[in-house]
Amino acid sequence: MFIGKQKMHINGKWIGKTKNFDDHDPATGKVIARFPVGDEDDVDEAVFAAHKALDAWSKTPPPTRAHMILKVSMMLKADKERLGRLVSAEMGKVLPEALGDVQEAIDMLEYFSGEGRRLLGNTTTSELRSKFCMTVRRPVGVMGLITPWNFPFAIPAWKLGAALVCGNTVVLKPSSDTPLCAYEMVRLFEKAGLPPGVLNLVTGPASSVGEAMVKHPEIDGISFTGSKATGEWITKNAGLKKLGLELGGKNAIIVMDDADLELAVDGIIWGAFGTTGQRCTSASRVIADSCIKEKLVKEIVARATKLRLGSGLLKTTDVGPLINKAALEKTEKYVRIGQDEGAKLLCGGKRGPGKGFFFQPTVFDSVQKEMRIAREEIFGPVLSVLEFDELDEAIDIANSVEYGLSSSIYTKDVNNAFRAIEGIESGITYVNSSTIGAEVHLPFGGVKGTGHTREAGILGIDEFSHVKSVYVDYSGKLQRAQIDDYSK
Ligand code: UN1
Repeated sequence: MFIGKQKMHINGKWIGKTKNFDDHDPATGKVIARFPVGDEDDVDEAVFAAHKALDAWSKTPPPTRAHMILKVSMMLKADKERLGRLVSAEMGKVLPEALGDVQEAIDMLEYFSGEGRRLLGNTTTSELRSKFCMTVRRPVGVMGLITPWNFPFAIPAWKLGAALVCGNTVVLKPSSDTPLCAYEMVRLFEKAGLPPGVLNLVTGPASSVGEAMVKHPEIDGISFTGSKATGEWITKNAGLKKLGLELGGKNAIIVMDDADLELAVDGIIWGAFGTTGQRCTSASRVIADSCIKEKLVKEIVARATKLRLGSGLLKTTDVGPLINKAALEKTEKYVRIGQDEGAKLLCGGKRGPGKGFFFQPTVFDSVQKEMRIAREEIFGPVLSVLEFDELDEAIDIANSVEYGLSSSIYTKDVNNAFRAIEGIESGITYVNSSTIGAEVHLPFGGVKGTGHTREAGILGIDEFSHVKSVYVDYSGKLQRAQIDDYSK
C-alpha cells in the first residue's frame, strides 16, 4: 500500500512541501507514505496560528469543546478496523494490539470529554470574614505535544483530549516513524469542528521541528513522551515552559515461590514480547525466587521460542517487527553487551527472516543487577532473568535501576503483595498481572528517571491546566490577611 504524499495542518489549512520524508512499513521496509519535512518557519507559523486561536478557544464553553472530543472518539470507533490496520502497517504491532491502541484512544477521548462538565476546582474557607476563596482551572496556553511511535493513536489521544478540553491550543509533532496515524487523528478533529489554528500538525525531524518547539518563546508548555536522553535535553532547553515528561522504564516482574507459575509465565511472555518489547511499560526484567527460577525459566524459554515473527497484519504472527533499523541495531548491540557481561543467552538473540526489522524473542539468564542489560532500556524483545532469596532483596533489585514506571509481583500471599506495593519505586504496580495494560481513568506515569508526570485519569488534567486561586472579598473594607486579627 502506498498512499502518496501527505500534508501538514497549519491554521486550518493542509500544507504540502517540496521536501518530504519516507514513512515505512517496518515489516517490509516499503514506503507507505511521504510527509513534509517541516522546519523552524513551519513551527513559527503553527505557533502563530495557535496563539491567534487561543483566546476564542479558551473562552469556548468546556462542554462545547468536550463535545468535539467525544465526536472524534465516536468517529475513531466507527473506523476502528481500518485505523487498526493502519497502525499495524505503519508501526508494526500485531493487529489485536493495534486495535487496542485505537481503542485506548477511543476510551481516552471519551474519558476526557467528560471533563467538559467537570474541570473541578475547590472552594474553601477564609481566615477573614466576608471573603470567599476558590480555585479555578485555566489553560496553560499554546501546548507543544511531541509524541512517540509506539502508541501512535493512544498517546496523542491522551495528550490531545486533556489539552483541548482544558482550553489549550496545540502544535503536534508526531514521531517521523508514525506521522500517518497522527494525520488521521488531526483530520478527525477537523471533521469534528475544531476551529482553525486550535490543532496544528507539523511533521519532520526532532532536530528542526522538535527543537524549534522546545525553544519557541511563544509555546507555553511541552508534553513529551520518549527517551530519557531527549527528556533531559528538553529540560535544559525549554526555559520556563510547563513540562510534562514520560521517559521510559526498566520494568520488573517479581515471581515469588508461592505464585501461580502458569499465570506468571503468561504475564511475562505478554509483558516482555507484546508490542515486540516496545512499550515504556514492557517487562524487561524477571526477578525470580531461587526455589522456582529454574522451572519458571524453562517454561518462559519454551513459550518464547514458539512465538512466530511476521507482519502484524497476519493472523499467524505473534510478534511484529521493531520500528526501524536503528532499533534493530540497538537490540542486537545489547545482546552482544549481555553476552560480553557474562549473562547466559537462553534463546533468541538474532534477527528474524526477511526484509523487515524482525528480532527473535530473547531471554538472558544469570543476569546480575549491575549488568547493563539489567539497567538500560533496550526497547526490544529482550528479557533478563535475575534471582533472589528474600522479598526485600527482590525489591532492592527492582529498585536498582534509574527508571520507575511499572512493576509487578506474582504471589498468592497478600502480605507479599502489599510489601511490594509499598517498597517498589514505580508509578504503577500490578499484582498478579503483567507490567502493561494501564487503563485510561487511572493516572499513568513514573518516578525517578521516568519523570514525574501523570497523564490519563483525573491527574492528566493537571498537566494541561494551571490552577488559579481566587479570593473574593465582599466585606467592603480593607482586610489584611496575616495582619488583622478577626478571631476575637
Ligand atoms: C507506553 O508504552 O508508553 O499500559 C504506553 C500500557 C499501555 C500504555 C503504554 N496502556 O502498556
